[in-house]
Amino acid sequence: MSDQSAVRIEPWGEGDLPLLEKLLGDPEMMVHLGGPESPEKLAERQVRFERLADSGTGRMFKIVDEATGEPVGSVGYWDKTWRDEEVYETGWFVLPAFQGRGIAVEATTQAIAKAKSDGKHRFLHAFPSVDNAASNAICRKLGFRLIEECEFEYPPGSFMQCNDWRLDLSPS
Ligand SMILES: CC(C)(COP(=O)(O)OP(=O)(O)OC[C@H]1O[C@@H](n2cnc3c(N)ncnc32)[C@H](O)[C@@H]1OP(=O)(O)O)[C@@H](O)C(=O)NCCC(=O)NCCS
Repeated sequence: MSDQSAVRIEPWGEGDLPLLEKLLGDPEMMVHLGGPESPEKLAERQVRFERLADSGTGRMFKIVDEATGEPVGSVGYWDKTWRDEEVYETGWFVLPAFQGRGIAVEATTQAIAKAKSDGKHRFLHAFPSVDNAASNAICRKLGFRLIEECEFEYPPGSFMQCNDWRLDLSPS
């Protein structure tokens, strides 16, 4: 990645609702994720993201452009029960103007390091839609193992065809 695209991750903060609106409120961004969230849902999500780290059930970060300090996306992980096992699930978003520069891969690499140092769960899963080429490429690139294709409930009440990717966080 060139220095032009260098990013860091910072804990999700109180002032980050406008970023959330640009990410999960945008129909283009939510093509593979059941469509944009309503303003009410986004406000609820903002509160959950602010409290996630203190609750001990995960961490949410904004992705910040090192050069400008501008927020360009989000990445995080949270507790999930999957196939009777306690694991982390992860997900990522990068604003359209910043896509295709390796930012999601870099930010997710940084988030994985945090999940490893939390030491809470052995496995981190990602469930991109089978049609989400960029997200499936990210999983492959970061060393996730493809477990299976599965039906995944997201948003609650609607089912999509996803890949179950799993990364082993235990020290090698
Ligand atoms: C998925 C998303 C975060 C990728 O962000 P990004 O910063 O553009 O990703 P990167 O530049 O790090 O690219 C990651 C890989 O995807 C590939 N890729 C990017 N866009 C692609 C596309 N449209 N089709 C195919 N591959 C693509 C890149 O080539 C790269 O792989 P490579 O390094 O092997 O070449 C971004 O497209 C997004 O926010 N999408 C909407 C939200 C979403 O679907 N989130 C995923 C929920 S699981």
